[in-house]
Amino acid sequence: MTNLIEWNDENTKDFGKKTTVFNHHLHESDLFSDENLIELIDNYPYEDLEVFTMGYNPKGWGEWFLGRRNLLSAEELLAAVKQGRLWLNLRGTNFTNPKLRELADKIFSEVKEKTGVSTFKHDMGLLISSPKAHVYYHADGPLVMLWQLRGIKRVYLYPAQKPCINDEQVEAILMRQQDEQLKFDESYEKYAFIHDLKPGEFVTWPQNCPHRIENQDCVNVSFSVEFLTPQAAWRANLIYANGYLRRVFGLNPSLEKSPKFLEPFKIILARIVKALGLYKGNPKLPRPSFDVDEKANGKIHFDQGIEAPKPIA
Ligand SMILES: [Fe+2]
Repeated sequence: MTNLIEWNDENTKDFGKKTTVFNHHLHESDLFSDENLIELIDNYPYEDLEVFTMGYNPKGWGEWFLGRRNLLSAEELLAAVKQGRLWLNLRGTNFTNPKLRELADKIFSEVKEKTGVSTFKHDMGLLISSPKAHVYYHADGPLVMLWQLRGIKRVYLYPAQKPCINDEQVEAILMRQQDEQLKFDESYEKYAFIHDLKPGEFVTWPQNCPHRIENQDCVNVSFSVEFLTPQAAWRANLIYANGYLRRVFGLNPSLEKSPKFLEPFKIILARIVKALGLYKGNPKLPRPSFDVDEKANGKIHFDQGIEAPKPIA
């Protein structure tokens, strides 16, 4: 069976450890034609499909809005994405669609075969987004591969360390004390790895690296593939334990300077805290604040009292 990913000695070694752009063949499949996307959306649980819109400054903050799809069919929704300023997020498509489950299995068995790394908690989020839409500066808890299928997006990646992100911020994301958004500062720009991600490429980066994304003037279809490795789960639990020690016991632990001999105890602590539900995060999606126009022309209508973002003059 042919590989989905183009592997070489270097990228095999760097997978999950360094920011790396890979070539893949998934965009050659007809799975992501308009017709098939419509079928995919139709078969996806209606209530789980998230529709977002955003402000106009990609380095901004706080203008990320959840909306209501209302009665739009899959076809109308796709038309609205093409004409409007929307970002559709279909999380966990590998759990809802047998073809995509098979695809996820193929991707991760290839990863295992080539790198020797075991992975778990696979989550393939399908992103269908408008021309010039963007995602604000944020960091994710697990490891991520961002697969580009249609359109081009500029990806800005920053190191998972100070000043771009600090221990408290990573802890807050992993403890679900806040959503993944972070405030961006222009001074981070000098640390950025910038790449125009094209169909046939995917990029992966070290765990918790902050990033932001800007679509070019074209509809984008991508997979955000989240996963863990034993090493990534270890790091996530260490961060969780540090966050608990900081918030509940007023300590000031450091991920970078965490003494190795303490790590197994911290992992046990994190597991106990999670199993017994000793720390309640604050996981919440924003409340819906706009309607997608049912005439499917990509227009949206914000609820009363919500200030609509204004295009930059
Ligand atoms: Fe992300």
